[in-house]
Amino acid sequence: MGTLIQNGTVVGSDRSQLLDVLIEGEKIAKVGPGLDTAGHTVVDATGLLVMPGGIDVHTHLDMPFGGTTSADDYTTGTQAAAVGGTTTVIDFALQSQGHTMKEALATWLKKSDNKACVDFSLHMAVTDLGPGDGSQGLREMEEMLAAGISSFKLFMAYPGVLMIDDGLMFKVMQKAAALNALCCIHAENGSAIDIVVAQMIAEGKTAPHYHALSRSPKAEAEATHRAIALADMAGAAVYIVHLSNEYALDELKFMQARGAKALAETCTQYLVLSLEDQMPGKSWEEAKFVFTPPLREKRHQAPLWKALVEGSLSVVSTDHCPFRFADQKELGRGNFTKIPNGGPGIENRLQILWHFGVNAGRITQEKFVELCCTAPARIFGMGKQKGTIAPGLDADILLWDPKAEYTISAATQCMATDYSMFEGWKVQGNAAKVFSRGELVVDNTAQPGKFLGATGRGRFVRREANAGGFA
Ligand code: URP
Ligand code: ZN
Ligand code: ZN
Repeated sequence: MGTLIQNGTVVGSDRSQLLDVLIEGEKIAKVGPGLDTAGHTVVDATGLLVMPGGIDVHTHLDMPFGGTTSADDYTTGTQAAAVGGTTTVIDFALQSQGHTMKEALATWLKKSDNKACVDFSLHMAVTDLGPGDGSQGLREMEEMLAAGISSFKLFMAYPGVLMIDDGLMFKVMQKAAALNALCCIHAENGSAIDIVVAQMIAEGKTAPHYHALSRSPKAEAEATHRAIALADMAGAAVYIVHLSNEYALDELKFMQARGAKALAETCTQYLVLSLEDQMPGKSWEEAKFVFTPPLREKRHQAPLWKALVEGSLSVVSTDHCPFRFADQKELGRGNFTKIPNGGPGIENRLQILWHFGVNAGRITQEKFVELCCTAPARIFGMGKQKGTIAPGLDADILLWDPKAEYTISAATQCMATDYSMFEGWKVQGNAAKVFSRGELVVDNTAQPGKFLGATGRGRFVRREANAGGFA
């Protein structure tokens, strides 16, 4: 006895077809036309698109940052993900300086234990290789891999907290190359930015707007080039996270054309929000949009969309790092450097990308699946489990209603923030039903915005080392 999804259009990254999908247990058992209904519970998907569940490879749940902790824990964050059609997230375990990666992993597994509601994995953010030549830390990377963590994050920004130097970055890249692991990079020149920040504060430029002005597109472009060049020297595959502007994109494309194994994502916010509209320098409310890299001038959006179409950008993620406006963003009133950096978006990624991407004619529905589901699974070494509708894979299935109209609002969202970055926006296209490993966990048509599964049902996903798909 299985669940048969009938009469829907199955959308893959390469084509869309009228096919039925049979779920048995946690897996997809069959995909084909006119499957036999006998003995199965039938779900009528007439008028709906049947897609792989979304995969968001860049989230920060329950993360200590900026003097506070991100507002969504593994329960609220993964429930919000599911309600928005995302069935897998890759979060970041942060190694603290003076501590080991093993300790960081244990801390993050504890945060997620009995709390995650959809499947999740972890990148390991490396900040310290230990004493001497770093061999202890490099050995630990092998242990991380054995634990199913095949991507390592390096921060070129946030001096004194997470930032590493080029030497450490290069050592990690060499080791990653040897292990077939992927290096994920936050690419901004943190040292140069810190000087500009100090100058601005000294000049009394303390409003949220100056957060954006202090972190220029050029500082991101410089670091993007440096990271890819070092990875290329080390023979490693590299994935630039949250690429936000045309100058950084130019560096990425230049290095890709030279044959570097370089991939990158952008995030929802950089495609639809801008310095002009959200951060014109007029009010404290703009603290809602203080995240890093910051919002850019509108003219940077079109090149990002084009790069998604052409393939130099491979993924759209959220960098979901939520802080409440009332009490958490408030920490930086009068000094933008104290505003916790990050914004909420895990719930809205698919709605925004569909509405402004597919409905607007910028991307096809197949490209939407590629960017939000299939490429994230492939690049991050879980393509054999997730990211495609095919027999044998996890039955993480999203029934998408392209006609559904939805108004985004903090009042109705599952995310634990007291604001939405897209407040009042009306979008067309929304998750109708969401299956996670075969279980119906969201039914937005019958019970909108409600997570129906048990808290803690989400499982840790072990990922293989495939050098971002280059191997
Ligand atoms: O502002 C952001 N993006 N906060 C989360 C940490 C990071 O840099 O991704
Ligand atoms: Zn970052
Ligand atoms: Zn991030």
